[in-house]
Amino acid sequence: MEPITIRSATAADALRIASIHCENWRDIYADVLDPDYLAGPIEQERRELWLDRLTNPSPAQSVLVADMPGAGPVGFICLYRDQDPRWGSLIDNLHVAPGLRGQAIGKHLMRAGAQAMLDVEAGAGVHLWVFEANTAGLRFYERLGGSVVERCLETELPAPPETYILRVFWSDLAALTA
Ligand SMILES: CC(C)(COP(=O)(O)OP(=O)(O)OC[C@H]1O[C@@H](n2cnc3c(N)ncnc32)[C@H](O)[C@@H]1OP(=O)(O)O)[C@@H](O)C(=O)NCCC(=O)NCCS
Repeated sequence: MEPITIRSATAADALRIASIHCENWRDIYADVLDPDYLAGPIEQERRELWLDRLTNPSPAQSVLVADMPGAGPVGFICLYRDQDPRWGSLIDNLHVAPGLRGQAIGKHLMRAGAQAMLDVEAGAGVHLWVFEANTAGLRFYERLGGSVVERCLETELPAPPETYILRVFWSDLAALTA
């Protein structure tokens, strides 16, 4: 694989990030999210989300992209510092472009994201939510030392009733950078 570099995202990355986000949700959530949502509204919604996040970033937000030479961003991670008194900072999104998974890009993004939180003096812990149906994503997080600490019904996205999400927690950001 070509060496990747990880850097902070800028507003110029918004559409590429939205495109990877959209492509990945269509791929991994084909059996979870409403097909009409995945076929249509998701594109505009993701574009608006990322343009807004990267043009008006909240002080707590860090977005990093993995650049591949000649290809530009092939993955991204978005974190929010100190979002929960018990579970700490939040990893809101982590995505590697289809076709490039399994090449350590996700691991590098997680490490860099954890370091970015330490750089802004976030507390020790970090957590995220993953669909229970996303077993590959869950195995990846467990491989990096995360533990499932909570199981809840999904209520925000267009998913069938009885769709569950899992909270994955790391108690030590510093260990995640190792
Ligand atoms: C989940 C995702 C970010 C992981 O990134 P990746 O670049 O594919 O994963 P990596 O190559 O960095 O894997 C890191 C480690 O996790 C392990 N791993 C990755 N996927 C795994 C799986 N499905 N089962 C078991 N182990 C897995 C790797 O073997 C590797 O272990 P190693 O360090 O011993 O070699 C990526 O696959 C992805 O974008 N998936 C689709 C989107 C998604 O599910 N995002 C998370 C939503 S919450």
